[in-house]
Amino acid sequence: MLGKRILLIIGGGIAAYKALDLIRRLTERGASVTPVLTKAGAEFVTPLSVSALAGAKVYTDLFDLTDEAEMGHIQLSRVADLIVVAPATADLMAKMAGGRADDLASTLLLATDTRVLVAPAMNVRMWTHPATQRNLATLQGDGVLFVGPNDGAMACGEFGPGRMAEPLEIVAAIEAAFGSGPLAGRHVLVTSGPTHEPIDPVRYIANRSSGAQGTALAAALAALGARVTFVTGPATVPPPAGVTVVRVETAREMLAAVEAALPADAAVFAAAVADWRVANAAGSKMKKDGSGKPPALEFAENPDILATIAQRKTGRPSLVVGFAAETDAVIDHATAKRARKGCDWIVANDVRPETGIMGGTENAITLISAEGAETWPRMTKDQVARKLAARIAEALA
Ligand code: C5P
Repeated sequence: MLGKRILLIIGGGIAAYKALDLIRRLTERGASVTPVLTKAGAEFVTPLSVSALAGAKVYTDLFDLTDEAEMGHIQLSRVADLIVVAPATADLMAKMAGGRADDLASTLLLATDTRVLVAPAMNVRMWTHPATQRNLATLQGDGVLFVGPNDGAMACGEFGPGRMAEPLEIVAAIEAAFGSGPLAGRHVLVTSGPTHEPIDPVRYIANRSSGAQGTALAAALAALGARVTFVTGPATVPPPAGVTVVRVETAREMLAAVEAALPADAAVFAAAVADWRVANAAGSKMKKDGSGKPPALEFAENPDILATIAQRKTGRPSLVVGFAAETDAVIDHATAKRARKGCDWIVANDVRPETGIMGGTENAITLISAEGAETWPRMTKDQVARKLAARIAEALA
């Protein structure tokens, strides 16, 4: 971070107050921050507090730059090592995705050849709206990096994804963008989501995994600087930015993708892999034959991907982590599973329906390792991911 030049675009939103803390965190790490405050951003924080914290002039709109002798907008967009947009509103994301340049911030973002990291902050419905999700996908496709948004209570009184990432998370994402996090130079493999096992070309067997925990974990590992290969089944949550995504459907495809992605320093198996597949899957759509007798499906056991990798004689990642979703005797079952599969850690969770964990935003886990069982307080899946990623970084240090 020392000596890095960061152009910080502060958009309009209540989260703009966190941008002040972000400036402080960046400058105390030796970065220099050139702040740009959008018109809407200036409704939430003042130019004076921004420039005082940054120790630099704050640019507020295009007209500041009419004096091209000072610094033109093209030059301003080029001198940075990284452009950070925090908070990024739905409107700012839409402008970026559409290539619009009708104010200083959007003009800089269109004119730049520097990498851009975006920390979105908006109402949950605005974030989940198909238009914003389309813009997100477009920007990700353009190589824009993202950090957050996080789940949680929002200033507007609603709950869900839309809260801006915390300043220290943004700092970690910036460090990762500079390749300087504690996992820089490390390759980590993450499996996530359910698998779909075909019955015939149109029907399949699946489970209710959303892929939320695996996705959060991949994002947290990438934020610490890891190169992440994310092997995902058909999950309901979109894959995170900044990772290599390998999409698979079946357990056997997942195993092949995992083996192809090795070597890795660590592998985390968060996928809810189907234990069985249909052995007699039909090549064409099965029809009712009028007899009233349903077809008999035969099952075959799927490969255990975690056990296969954990028990490899050569090329085993030095840290292999499995998950164990249990409904009773969680610690006993998970401890036995750790031994049976041959992995280093098991992240055990209680998925009884009354916990609301399966498909929910929170998780309550016990980490089982050679040292014993450590129960963490109930927290969001994002928090679990960050804590686990930090532990993985420690273990690989
Ligand atoms: O045996 P069980 O399915 O409870 O084990 C869960 C752990 O094993 C998870 O980490 C899961 O990703 C992994 N697993 C796997 N391949 C399977 C079944 C489970 O990698 N076929």
